Amino acid sequence: MSQVVIITGASRGLGLALALRFLSKGEWVFGISRSKKHWPEAFKKARNSNRFSLTTLDIQSEAAVKSYIRNLKKKVYRIDILINNAGYGGVLSRVEKLPLREFEHHLRANLLGTFLLCKHTLPIFRKQKKGLILNIASMAAKRAVPQLAAYSAAKFGVLALGQAIAKENLDIPLKCITICPGGMNTQMRSSLFGDEDAQCQQSPDFVADIILQIVEDKIKLETGSDITIRHSKVTDIHVPPTN
Ligand SMILES: NC(=O)c1ccc[n+]([C@@H]2O[C@H](COP(=O)([O-])OP(=O)(O)OC[C@H]3O[C@@H](n4cnc5c(N)ncnc54)[C@H](OP(=O)(O)O)[C@@H]3O)[C@@H](O)[C@H]2O)c1
Repeated sequence: MSQVVIITGASRGLGLALALRFLSKGEWVFGISRSKKHWPEAFKKARNSNRFSLTTLDIQSEAAVKSYIRNLKKKVYRIDILINNAGYGGVLSRVEKLPLREFEHHLRANLLGTFLLCKHTLPIFRKQKKGLILNIASMAAKRAVPQLAAYSAAKFGVLALGQAIAKENLDIPLKCITICPGGMNTQMRSSLFGDEDAQCQQSPDFVADIILQIVEDKIKLETGSDITIRHSKVTDIHVPPTN
């Protein structure tokens, strides 16, 4: 039976690369983005598949996330995979020059949004006694990056959130895995470090392929684990203690 996959940030970058892979496997992909700006290109790449839909939703709004998940469940009856991929790169800044609103934006877009999607999907996964959550963090969740303090702090938070969710759900076959990619050639990287730097980074397609291997259990990971994918290689798999 085809799986129902929710992917936040599915209009471009890693989210779109993931969407295309799930579509090629015959799954239903329900993508979320903040705007419709990249939709024409996304639908074109997905060859207008009737298994691919996009919805505009600000993942920072609890009311919007709650109603999206409730309506989707009514429509498709179950959810198999939640991929929290949407993120915000912001601008490079030393801590003492970082405006409060920029710090808050990082926490909301990178951490709170992931929390909200998990919060409102978990009751469905618990009722189904089955579910997979993949939270896209970053290498910056394992090793903070100077001038990206807010981003790093938010991504460390995503790692902690995933470990807590895993520990809270050991009684059912629910998996929560954190993905920590190094730099990828996407718009986020270009905006932060320039096009030339972005072109030297690993491709989002490579990272998406590894994520698909995790979903298909070809790379076996225990719930609560995190995996680092850097320079087109899996460089670390960390399994935290469950107590
Ligand atoms: N690129 C890298 O070097 C890198 C490295 C490590 C980890 N990561 C992480 O990997 C993930 C994907 O990154 P990417 O480079 O593919 O990003 P990207 O190219 O900047 O795409 C971001 C996606 O997230 C959506 N989005 C952003 N804020 C949102 C919000 N508040 N509500 C709903 N959707 C929102 C965007 O929608 P719109 O198109 O409508 O704006 C877009 O679809 C992120 O979590 C990022 O932190 C990236």
